Amino acid sequence: MAISKTMSDALNKQFNEELSSAYLYESMAADFYAKNLSGFAVWMTAQASEERIHAQKIHQFLDGNGERVFYAAISEPQAEWKTPVDAIKAALGHEKFISKCIHDLVRMARKEDDIATESFLGWFVTEQIEEETTAQALIDKLEMVGDNRMGLYQLDKEVSTRVENNGG
Ligand code: FEO
Repeated sequence: MAISKTMSDALNKQFNEELSSAYLYESMAADFYAKNLSGFAVWMTAQASEERIHAQKIHQFLDGNGERVFYAAISEPQAEWKTPVDAIKAALGHEKFISKCIHDLVRMARKEDDIATESFLGWFVTEQIEEETTAQALIDKLEMVGDNRMGLYQLDKEVSTRVENNGG
């Protein structure tokens, strides 16, 4: 069964939301690099890479269903965050927004009785739970560290080991 035009347009929108997420996280990484928090910068760069993988998954799904993707303009992301915890809180807020987008897509697929798209989106539903949990865990650690510079130094080292998950 072919994907409807409405569903295809909505998936295209999500494709661009994922790329926009990557752009935001690259901007956060740049801010971390500028503040000599290279571990957090590596963490954010890995996060950005995962977003591009999410976009590719949607691209492939649309391609596989005889549809194509269209690239939309990406607005300029915020360039600076006051503290590391502010940045990660902003990332969590953004992930909550993305989770809502995914859930709306699932509702649309259900409404259209588009079982293939609903099944495809299942991976994203699970992925969003993980993304929100990971961001919240990092916020918890940053709040534990508070103003302790040594603690922040240690945490920066710890998060530098993150590698991207290709979601395979
Ligand atoms: Fe692709 Fe972080 O949502």
